[in-house]
Amino acid sequence: MRIDVLTLFPEFFSGFLQASLLGKAIGKGLLTIELHQIRDWSTNKHHTVDDTPYGGGHGMVMKVEPLVAALEAVARPASRRILLSARGPRLTQARAKELATLPHLVLLCGRYEGVDERVADCIDEEVCIGDYVLSGGEAGALVLIDAVSRLVPGVLGNPGSLETESFSEDLLEYPQYTRPEVFRGKGVPEILLSGNHAAIDEWRREQSIERTRQIRPDLMKDPGEKR
Ligand SMILES: C[S@@+](CC[C@H](N)C(=O)[O-])C[C@H]1O[C@@H](n2cnc3c(N)ncnc32)[C@H](O)[C@@H]1O
Repeated sequence: MRIDVLTLFPEFFSGFLQASLLGKAIGKGLLTIELHQIRDWSTNKHHTVDDTPYGGGHGMVMKVEPLVAALEAVARPASRRILLSARGPRLTQARAKELATLPHLVLLCGRYEGVDERVADCIDEEVCIGDYVLSGGEAGALVLIDAVSRLVPGVLGNPGSLETESFSEDLLEYPQYTRPEVFRGKGVPEILLSGNHAAIDEWRREQSIERTRQIRPDLMKDPGEKR
């Protein structure tokens, strides 16, 4: 998969892209990530990319010309062009899975008060990473890149973990433990030491259902049906 990121702050991404899973995936050629400075497409003397809003109001708005020029320069017919935006539909694990099957994503990071609405003609979808306002789309792009790229075949060392982790089957993950067996007087649930894998699977599923019911009942289509 290839991801092109259009941003005013390419430096945001450098450490993140070198570390851990992503760094390895890029090293193995499973993932190509290109960062582009939006100012490079500004044609005015000072490379400005923002202006005051028509109709008045607070702050500045990102101008349509450099954004459209940047999108047209990096997008191809098969690209999915995504604007990070607090106004978009919220990113879900299901959407991340769909995006992970695509060959090319172009991520546009907004700044200031957002982007000129006419950019929408060059965008396929908007993505919001949560119900809060960030100061820029970069943190949103990092979240999207992380969530999507670990679902690209070959990126995760142990793809089996995708089957049981949170949000698969509309459930949160069960509680996990590792050594030591007792920490500050608190032990590990007996069942996990039993070696009875069928019983462990059943316990984990019950824990998942209970945890989801308590913390995120909205994830369960029918909170009564899972038992
Ligand atoms: C300060 S925000 C603009 C917020 C905008 N005035 C509004 O009320 O929706 C600047 C940029 O951050 C990004 N952004 C802010 N919150 C976001 C979120 N929850 N998810 C994704 N991107 C977000 C968008 O790219 C946005 O253009």
